[in-house]
Amino acid sequence: MAVPGQRNFADRGTLTEAVARELAVLIERALARRGRACLLVPGGSTPGPILERLAMLPLPWSRVSFGLGDERWVAPEHADSNERMLRKALAGRPGAAARVIGLYRPGQTPEQAAAAGLPPGLAPPFDAVMLGMGADGHFASLFPQAPGLPAALAGDGAPLLAVLPPAAPGPRLSLTLAALLDTRALLLVATGSDKRAVLQQASLPGPDHTPPLRALLRQRRTPLAVRWAP
Ligand code: 6PG
Repeated sequence: MAVPGQRNFADRGTLTEAVARELAVLIERALARRGRACLLVPGGSTPGPILERLAMLPLPWSRVSFGLGDERWVAPEHADSNERMLRKALAGRPGAAARVIGLYRPGQTPEQAAAAGLPPGLAPPFDAVMLGMGADGHFASLFPQAPGLPAALAGDGAPLLAVLPPAAPGPRLSLTLAALLDTRALLLVATGSDKRAVLQQASLPGPDHTPPLRALLRQRRTPLAVRWAP
């Protein structure tokens, strides 16, 4: 049984192609209406192939900006950096002409960066926000039991939260739900049976914020398109 707004694909290859083309349409729509496009993408392993495929498409990339929904607090050269993953996916492809706006601020703590607000160039409403999810039901870096989670999942409030995830290694900076929902299109991309089960469970009635994904599925501010493959 699918979550409302969920499309299932036969395999990861067809999901990659479909989501890349869906993002391209959102970019073209933004360019036609405003002459520019700004998309937020997640970190982790899921978005890489999608971004590589998207970056191959013939779009006016110099008018496109990519931001991140969250960042591990490491330099962009670090193997764990989401910004590094994004830049690598674009490199050597037409999409390399797009602007990348990172969240990491050298010399600042995640708390200082959160207090400073979104970096210049990341101005909501975004044209598309793509999210991933963990098997623990987190999205962005809004992890279960993270300090400050209830405020970060409220429908309003500050756009950024410094997170010291109880489970994931190292501090992070995450956009809050309120900031992630300030977008013209919202996608959640997940693969694997474990995440499908978590999606299903989080779509049923249950305690708020447990898992954090429930707040994303429950909100009615921005329609959520879920894309899943085995
Ligand atoms: C991150 C991501 C995070 C990711 C999920 C899923 O910084 O890790 O933003 O929210 O989307 O953990 O990661 P995978 O795609 O690797 O399963």
